[in-house]
Amino acid sequence: MAQLGHLVTTTFASMSTIVVEGGRSLSGTVGILGAKNAVLKEMVSALLAPGRHRLTNVPSIVDVELMCQVLEHTGCKVDQGEGELWVVVPEELRPEAPIDLVRQMRASIVVLGPLLARCGVARVALPGGDDLGSRPIEWHMSGLDQMGVSFELVHGELVGSIDGKLKGTEIELPFPSVGATENLLFAGVLAEGETVIVNAAREPEIEDLIRQLTEMGADISGGGTSLVTIRGVEALHPVEHEVIPDRLEAGTFAVAAAITNGDVTITGCYPDHLRMELRKLEDAGCDVERGDGWLRVKGPDRPTPVDFSTLPFPGFHTDMHPQMVALLSLASGTSVVTENLYDARFRYVGEMARMGADISIEAQHAIVRGVDRLSGCPVLSPDIRAGAALVLAALRADGVTEVGGAEHIDRGYQDFAGRLAALGASVERS
Ligand code: EPU
Repeated sequence: MAQLGHLVTTTFASMSTIVVEGGRSLSGTVGILGAKNAVLKEMVSALLAPGRHRLTNVPSIVDVELMCQVLEHTGCKVDQGEGELWVVVPEELRPEAPIDLVRQMRASIVVLGPLLARCGVARVALPGGDDLGSRPIEWHMSGLDQMGVSFELVHGELVGSIDGKLKGTEIELPFPSVGATENLLFAGVLAEGETVIVNAAREPEIEDLIRQLTEMGADISGGGTSLVTIRGVEALHPVEHEVIPDRLEAGTFAVAAAITNGDVTITGCYPDHLRMELRKLEDAGCDVERGDGWLRVKGPDRPTPVDFSTLPFPGFHTDMHPQMVALLSLASGTSVVTENLYDARFRYVGEMARMGADISIEAQHAIVRGVDRLSGCPVLSPDIRAGAALVLAALRADGVTEVGGAEHIDRGYQDFAGRLAALGASVERS
């Protein structure tokens, strides 16, 4: 396995760069791969059932490799092939996720639910903050606490334990948190009785996870709505499951077409998962055609300003925010962008300003005053989506932009530079 093992070692040890020469219009067709934020959780759900699980449409990205390491730490055997992955889960698990892995990938926290359900105990390093801000996990903990889990913080590790089995109950989330909904789903499927999640997250990746859990024998209703009911079952079994397409990857390529005044067809995606984002692209002057499993985006000569606020699904996705700002930085007027999810999402703004963007921040709002042109220079990517956004800005900037910290982009996009180059961009990885 460890197809990407070398990448993890080299990228986290040293910084890599994507070099872009701006000014080319993109055209052609790009195929979308499996969703990062679905596959990571669907790897973890394997922990709920001993045996051999198979996932298909698996992207070759660094976060998948990190999740392989998390699963291996618990005693699983993971094998990767081209676009697929097998997890062999033993009867006896080691119920731990250590700090070095949790620090590199915060999503590791979702092993809590399955490990508690299978082992009655879980020791998971507390993730702390990350590139996007403080990102606490108290809603995961309070939901699990209501299901009978006692938590202790021991030397930076969260140790959860349960006397007997997890017990179903009604849990009302203060906010439709993706991770908390997932941890409660995992805990609920093997719990005694019925677990009801009120104000559950409705993201398509959660719906896909519920589909996989149902295939495994779980009894869940209300997937994709804010009221999810889980009736606990005695045991689950391994299955084969195909990961849904990555709507964020599709959205990012849509902005690549938009910002370069290009004409790109995006295949293997679900346009319905991007309704709000596509509507905002249309408002910005793009011509968007869509069909069953495909999208075609033609960019305007110059974008029209558009206001938007990030919200949980079906609102405008926070992980499409920086890419959209890259586009609006070149609009023919001023746009107001409100970020409602992350306190540190705007860290890329200073880097875009180095390229000539005129953006000011007022609390959780960005005032984006469109400029006539951006100019290439060295910039540094602070996180996955910001990195992608800086590459998109570079596609339209004069001259050469070197986007450092490209290893962040590798966490969520398979061969981003190569796929942009195939659409006609002048992009190289160095
Ligand atoms: N929050 C709390 N307390 C909690 C849980 C969440 O305050 O107990 C807050 C977070 O700090 C954040 C907001 O609630 O401000 C939303 O967090 P959520 O739990 O929904 O997000 P997550 O599960 O940590 C996933 C994705 C993110 C994506 C968000 C929102 C994965 C691996 N990550 O994170 O994806 O931004 O949902 O849709 O699924 C990315 O792919 O680049 C990425 C960051």
